[in-house]
Amino acid sequence: MPNKNNLLIITSALPYANGPLHFGHLLEHIQTDIWVRTNRALNKECIYICASDAHGTPIMLKAEEENIQPEKLIEEITEIQKKSLINFNIKHDNYYTTHSKENRVFSELIFNSADKKGLIIRKKIKQLYDDSKGLFLADRYVQGECPKCGAKDQYGDNCEVCGATYEATELLNPKSIFTGNKPSVKESEHLFFDVGSCSENLKKWISDTDLQSAVKNKIQEWFVDGLKPWDISRDAPYFGFKIPGYEDKYFYVWLDAPIGYIASLENYLKKKNINKDSRELWGEQSDTEIYHFIGKDIMNFHTLFWPCMLETAGFKKPTNVFIHGFMTLNGKKMSKSKKNFLLVDDYLQVLQPDFIRYYLASKLSSGVDDLDMDLNDFQKKVNTDLIGKFINIASRSQGFLKKDSNMLGEVLDNEIIDEFINEKDNIFNLFTAREYSKALKEIMLLADKANQYIDLNKPWELNKEEVNSIEVKKIASTAINLFRILNLYLEPVIPETSEKIKNYLKSNQSLDNLKNNLVNHQLEIFKPLLLRIEDSEIAKLAEISQNG
Ligand code: MSP
Ligand code: ZN
Repeated sequence: MPNKNNLLIITSALPYANGPLHFGHLLEHIQTDIWVRTNRALNKECIYICASDAHGTPIMLKAEEENIQPEKLIEEITEIQKKSLINFNIKHDNYYTTHSKENRVFSELIFNSADKKGLIIRKKIKQLYDDSKGLFLADRYVQGECPKCGAKDQYGDNCEVCGATYEATELLNPKSIFTGNKPSVKESEHLFFDVGSCSENLKKWISDTDLQSAVKNKIQEWFVDGLKPWDISRDAPYFGFKIPGYEDKYFYVWLDAPIGYIASLENYLKKKNINKDSRELWGEQSDTEIYHFIGKDIMNFHTLFWPCMLETAGFKKPTNVFIHGFMTLNGKKMSKSKKNFLLVDDYLQVLQPDFIRYYLASKLSSGVDDLDMDLNDFQKKVNTDLIGKFINIASRSQGFLKKDSNMLGEVLDNEIIDEFINEKDNIFNLFTAREYSKALKEIMLLADKANQYIDLNKPWELNKEEVNSIEVKKIASTAINLFRILNLYLEPVIPETSEKIKNYLKSNQSLDNLKNNLVNHQLEIFKPLLLRIEDSEIAKLAEISQNG
């Protein structure tokens, strides 16, 4: 667990700048944002870093297709992504781009250090080349027959029918997906990072780091297979940074992408006029803790290549890499072409951010399992938990305070309030351990308890006789304080709603003031704090997701 006074640098993976964000991205940023807010609530200093990942062939081709410069494309997309995330109250300290001067500097620095240490191997390789398009063909740009089983229309790296893996040059009757032409085989020099030389350091990092067990197991498999040199160069035409000393070779996008974390930090420090440099904050000897949140598909880049790169140039390796599973939509893989897809901006046309933040959190654990976003389950979960249990505590209590101008009383049932306050450590330990689903279950058990407290005390019965007015006020004031406590527990997950509730309570408390009960305190006039999700809204989301 993080130490008290250390700075935490926390990142979400950098989304490719070739399109707007979808629900898979959202899952990751919500998971990270809740963790950042949790740590901040516990008074940890955090810097939450992200950026768009701007380089690579797909982005170059997309810009070509739209007839604009790649720089223009990534600028536009980065802005769109940034806005979408802000709309979900995902609070990055900096959302930058990897196509930046800072990133060029750090990429060259890391490359040059590796080169000086003899870790860059130069080797000629043969690749498929589309002569009329003038492009080396990455594996996904070539199709042919599987060399093992003969299945048609297989890509250049592996066969979806028999599972064989092979080199693109081994495909039978290969065709470029751009022109349909048979590619030629062309030789060119590539640069490789000698990952094998870092094995010992890597092993030490892995044994010193509290990685998820599924992740440790996967890494062990890679070691058994042997760590092969990693190809870090791409030939022109390519959109990226030129490799120092070459006119027509570029860093492979995955070389400079993670370095983009450091570049984004550097840019943040400068923008904020913070007089520290990122080499120092991210330096080997610093006390900074570094946490990356990523999906399972990009684990090798973060737990193998990235620690090696950092090591070479005297940067600190990650304190941990937190890996989540993949999100499916209504039980099926999310896919635009299969018409099962949801963009984050489309969701916001229909519903507010806290509902989806709550739902996704209720599905998240510290594991790597996939999780499903089921629209009907989403509606039920939000309506039952947030409105039926949580908000209900306030809506059914507030009426009893009206005749006294919404003033809370002086006397409370302290026993149940203390019981709620005592759950703080348990709940925040679960949040810190990324066991959001369990944390929310605990909070909802407390919400049930608060409702039972009201049920048992029957203020509506007591309220029939004036003699009971003090008792009625005590019950309602206790319930409102229970609501206040639960609101502080839910704040990392539903920040916008929590803010609204604080306005209603006329109280700007944080976890630090958890024990300060509101007594003899006037509330705002009650207005419904959240509205249920209607069937029509779910139908609208279903329709959007089926339009692809
Ligand atoms: N650009 C790289 C990351 C570079 S980090 C130095 C990349 N981009 S991505 O846009 O394809 O994915 C960004 C993140 O979203 C990754 O962590 C990825 O695992 C995650 N997800 C993309 N689709 C997802 C789901 N369907 N479900 C959950 N997460 C998914 O990879
Ligand atoms: Zn095959």
